[in-house]
Amino acid sequence: MKVFEEVDDLAIEIASQALLDGNLVAFPTETVYGLGADAVNTSAVNRMYESKGRPKDHPVIIHISSIEMLSKWAVDIPKSARILANQFWPGPLTIILKKSELASDLITGGQKTVAIRIPNHPIALELLKRFEEKGGFGVVAPSANRFGAVSPTRAKHVLNELDSYLVESDVLLDGGNCKIGIESTIIFINDNDFKILRPGFISAKKIIQTLQMSNIWISESDKHHQLSVSGNLPNHYKPKAKVEINAIAHPGDGFIALKNIQTPNLAIRLGEPKDDLEFAHSLYSNLREADQLNLDRVVVNYQSFSPLGIAILDRLVRAASR
Ligand code: TXA
Ligand code: MG
Repeated sequence: MKVFEEVDDLAIEIASQALLDGNLVAFPTETVYGLGADAVNTSAVNRMYESKGRPKDHPVIIHISSIEMLSKWAVDIPKSARILANQFWPGPLTIILKKSELASDLITGGQKTVAIRIPNHPIALELLKRFEEKGGFGVVAPSANRFGAVSPTRAKHVLNELDSYLVESDVLLDGGNCKIGIESTIIFINDNDFKILRPGFISAKKIIQTLQMSNIWISESDKHHQLSVSGNLPNHYKPKAKVEINAIAHPGDGFIALKNIQTPNLAIRLGEPKDDLEFAHSLYSNLREADQLNLDRVVVNYQSFSPLGIAILDRLVRAASR
C-alpha cells in the first residue's frame, strides 16, 4: 500500500484516481479512519469486504462531500433528515434512509435502507470532492480495521492491521490522530420513526433539541435489533486483551481511568484522559496499546452520565463482552 505521510494536492489527486480505478483508499475522518472503496464498483467493494474479513451481509456507510449527493443515494427523504443533515453535516452523524436504485444490495446488506454521512475532516472532504468531480458518486468506508477489532484512530493502526491484506495500488492517507476517536452516531429515520442505532458524539439530546421532539428510542448495546448492524454485535470493538469495566486492577493489568484517579499498585497505566472528550479520543489507541504490550487484562475505570459518556460506555460494554 502506498502511504502518504504528508497529504498535499498531489496525494489527493492520486488517491481520488486510485478510488476511481477500483483501488482501496484508507483515509482519516474526524471519528476514525475509514477504508474507502468506490460505492458503485462491485469488485472494489468486494475487495474492501475481504480485506476487512467482514461478512457481506453487514452494510456499510456511504461517504459523500455535499448534501446535493444525498438524493443520488436515498429516496423519500423526510424533512427531519434534511434538518439533521443541515445542522450536523459535515460531522459525526450517519443517517439511515430509504435507498435509491443506485445503492446495491452489496452495500446495504440486502436491506431497503442505506447509511450516509458527510465526514468533517479536511482530507476526507477534499478526497470525496475530487472523487465526485471525476464522476464518482460516493465512497463506502467502514472503519479501517479487521472485522470485530477496535477501530483505528491513527494511520499506523491501519498500517499495522491491514498492510498484509492490501496491495501496492491501494493508498493510505495519514491525517494524524482522529479528533473524536469513536465512530459516528447512527440514526434511523423513516417517516415519524426515529431510532439511534449507535450512540456517538452527536448525542440523542442534541438530536431531540434540533428536531424539537420529546423523546427518541436508543438502541441498547447489549441487545440485537432487527436491522443488521455489525456495530451492534455485542462482541464488536474488541482488543485481544480481556477488558473489564470498574473491576479491581491487579499487578500487571492495564489500567485506563480519568487523570484524577490513581493507578492501582503495579498496574500499567495505559491512559489518563482529563475528561470525556479526551476519553473518547484516546480509548481505542489505549486499548491497542494493551495488545501491543501483550497484556492479558485491561481494567477500565469509567463512570459518566454525560451524553458523550453514553457513547463511551456503549463501546466499553462491547469491548468487555465475551
Ligand atoms: O464514524 C464512522 O461512522 C466510521 C467512519 C470511517 O466514517 N465508519 C464506520 O463504519 O464506523 P463501520 O462500517 O465500521 O460501521 C457502520 C455501521 C455498521 O454497524 C453497519 O451495520 C451500520 O453502520 N449500517 C450501515 N448501513 C446500515 C443500514 N442500512 N441499516 C442499519 N445499519 C447500517
Ligand atoms: Mg467498524
